Amino acid sequence: MVIFAIETSCDETSVAIYKNRKILANVISSQINEHTKCGGVVPELASRLHLKNFPYVLLEALQTAKIKITDLQYIAYTEKPGLIGALHIGKIIAETLASYLAIPILPLNHLYGHIYASAIDNNFLFPLLAVLVSGGHTQLILMKKNLDFEILGLTLDDAVGECYDKVARMLELGYPGGPIIDKIAGTGTPTAYHLPLPLNDQSYNFSFSGLKSAAANLIAKEHGKENLNLPNFCATFQKTCVDIIMRKTKLAIKNFQPKMVTLVGGVSANSALRTAILDLATSNLKVIIPKLEYCTDNAAMIARLAAQELMENRIKGD
Ligand code: KG4
Ligand code: ZN
Repeated sequence: MVIFAIETSCDETSVAIYKNRKILANVISSQINEHTKCGGVVPELASRLHLKNFPYVLLEALQTAKIKITDLQYIAYTEKPGLIGALHIGKIIAETLASYLAIPILPLNHLYGHIYASAIDNNFLFPLLAVLVSGGHTQLILMKKNLDFEILGLTLDDAVGECYDKVARMLELGYPGGPIIDKIAGTGTPTAYHLPLPLNDQSYNFSFSGLKSAAANLIAKEHGKENLNLPNFCATFQKTCVDIIMRKTKLAIKNFQPKMVTLVGGVSANSALRTAILDLATSNLKVIIPKLEYCTDNAAMIARLAAQELMENRIKGD
């Protein structure tokens, strides 16, 4: 089974080639430099750049995988969720290629792709709890078997990655803010300031907008940007985000007794969150996190999800 996958849901133009249970190529062309000039992702620019970048990532993937375009047997692409124009470009490219090569096409869910990024180098154990943390989503998902996704809880407002990005913007640190705050946090003291733990209840839902407002107040009113100790602030903010996610994750583990936990989505690249999730491992609970290149948006995860859909015979391919 040779699968060509396309991911264009946000600001990464990515394609991957999967053959015989292996990712042979995963090419990611990041648009970050272009969007940084505007302080965040500009949807229309993202669409245009996907179209411009696609021929280059396609050629690079074919060369890396040593595969001819006519060897491709399936085209998979991210159907949703994401920026509507950016997704549309992926769909048009996928349909054009599938029609040219006369092969089947698989429209797939980006969030489930993030979860299956974990299956690239690991075998899933069920029940599996997926902690999905990205720029657009924050969810706890329980899987009792392959391709069976039960959303236990989700954010009621901002996603955790969005909160990182917005706080970084307030501090004029650059885009995307998550990795920048993560790096600075490593040099600070997490108890130096106080930030609230919103929605600290018995549900599996999250809330980050209150934290964002509290961070804004702390930055603007209480200290003023010049007086703020940046490493201490970043360390406090990071610890608060990790605490919010870990409290609900531990609650779900207690109540659903999964055999495996996985941390996925762009924020799974966060150093403190990775450490906290890995610390959950016991003899009865295995913890897995995808390799860093499979954490933020990439097409390898879409290819792996496509392979699972085909293995489970959910898509007949005709
Ligand atoms: O999954 P992803 O690449 O795109 C979406 O589907 O949203 O996630 C991007 C998000 C951004 O908000 C970015 O700031 C965040 O992941 N991120 C991080 C780190 N690396 C990426 N957040 C915290 N710490 C990091 N090291
Ligand atoms: Zn994503």
